[in-house]
Amino acid sequence: MFLRAARFEPVPYTPVWFMRQAGRSLPEYLKVREGIPMLESCMRPELVKEITLQPVRRHGVDAAIFFSDIVVPLKAVGIDVDIKPGVGPVIADPIRSFDDLQRLRPLEPDDMPYITEAVGLLVDELGTTPLIGFAGAPFTLASYLIEGGPSRTYENTKAMMYGEPELWAALVDRLAQITSAFLKIQIEAGASAIQLFDSWAGALAPDEYRRSVLPASSKVFDAVAPYGVPRIHFGVNTGELLGLMGQAGADIVGVDWRVPLHLAAERVGPGKGLQGNLDPAVLFAPTRVVETKAREVLHAAQAIGDSGHIFNLGHGVMPSMDPDALTRLVAFVHEASAR
Ligand code: CP3
Repeated sequence: MFLRAARFEPVPYTPVWFMRQAGRSLPEYLKVREGIPMLESCMRPELVKEITLQPVRRHGVDAAIFFSDIVVPLKAVGIDVDIKPGVGPVIADPIRSFDDLQRLRPLEPDDMPYITEAVGLLVDELGTTPLIGFAGAPFTLASYLIEGGPSRTYENTKAMMYGEPELWAALVDRLAQITSAFLKIQIEAGASAIQLFDSWAGALAPDEYRRSVLPASSKVFDAVAPYGVPRIHFGVNTGELLGLMGQAGADIVGVDWRVPLHLAAERVGPGKGLQGNLDPAVLFAPTRVVETKAREVLHAAQAIGDSGHIFNLGHGVMPSMDPDALTRLVAFVHEASAR
C-alpha cells in the first residue's frame, strides 16, 4: 500500500509509518540495545534486522525504515563521530577549512558491507512490506560536521555558508557524493523507497536554501533517479521551503505539523505526493483527541486526492511515547481512511 500510494495509484486505505518508529519508545529495543553503543549497533546486521522489524511486528505499519543513522556513512569514510545518548552526533574535529575537507573522502560501494548485508536480511524477512532506505541531506550533515554537534543557531554553519561560499560549496558537494553513495548501497541491496532527511534545513530563508543547499540536494535526487524508487524529502520547520524541497527532486514532500496538508499541497504544486503530518505531541493526549487530530490530517490530505498521501507524524516518535498509542493510531488511520 505504501508503494502504491507513493506512485499515486489508488489505494483502499491510507498507508502509515512513523519516523523514528524503531527506537527508545519500544521496550524490546531497549532490551536488545543494552550495553551496545548506537553506532556499533548499526554495524551488526542481525541486530539491525531485529530492530528494524520490531515496530513492523508491533504496530502493523505499512513500511519499515532501515535502522541506521545519518552519520553512519561519515563514520564509514573515517570521520571521528560518536552518538552520545540524549545529545546526538558529536564530531571530534569539526570541519572548518579547505584542509579539513581532505578528511572527507568519497564513499565507495564496498565501504559498508554491513549495510548491504543488513538490507539483504531485511528484504528477505519483510516479504511484501517495503523497506525505506534513508540518508542525511548535505545541509543537515554539514551542520553536524561544522558545529561539531547539535546546534540551535547554526552559527558556524551559516558563517561558512555566508562568508566562505567556495568552501561551503565544496563541502556540500562532497556530502552529496557520500549521501548518494549511501542511498545507492541501500537501493542496490533491496530498499524500495528512500527518504532524504534535511531535518534542520528549516533554519534557512528560501533564497539562501535555493542558492546554497538546493543544488547539492538535487544532485542526490538525480543520482538515485535511475532506480525509479519513490523519493521522499523531509525537514522540520520547512513551511516556507516546501515548494523548493519538492523542486529539489522529490516525488513526495514530508511536512511537519505546522502547515496543514491542503496548504502544503498548494506550496508543493501538482504532481507530488505528501507525507505527514500529525503533531507528534498529540500522542500524549487522550485517544479520542488523537483520533480527531488524525482525522483532520486525513481530511486535509483529500486536497491532493487520497492517493499520494502517506500518513506519518510531523517529526519522529519520541522516546517517552506510549507505544500502544502508536499501534492504535495505525489501526485508526487504516479504518478512518478506508474507501
Ligand atoms: O526508526 C527510524 O526512524 C530509523 C532509524 C533512524 C535513526 N536516526 C536511529 C537513531 C533514523 C531515520 C535516524 C535519522 C537521524 N539521525 C536524523 C534525521 C531524522 C530526524 O530526527 O530529523 C537525525 C537528525 C539524526 C541524528 C541523531 N541521531 C539524533 C538527533 C539522535 C538522537 C540523540 C538522542 O539520544 O536523543 C541520534 C541517535 C539515534 N538515531 C537514536 C536512534 C534510535 C537514539 C539512540 C539510542 O537509542 O540511544
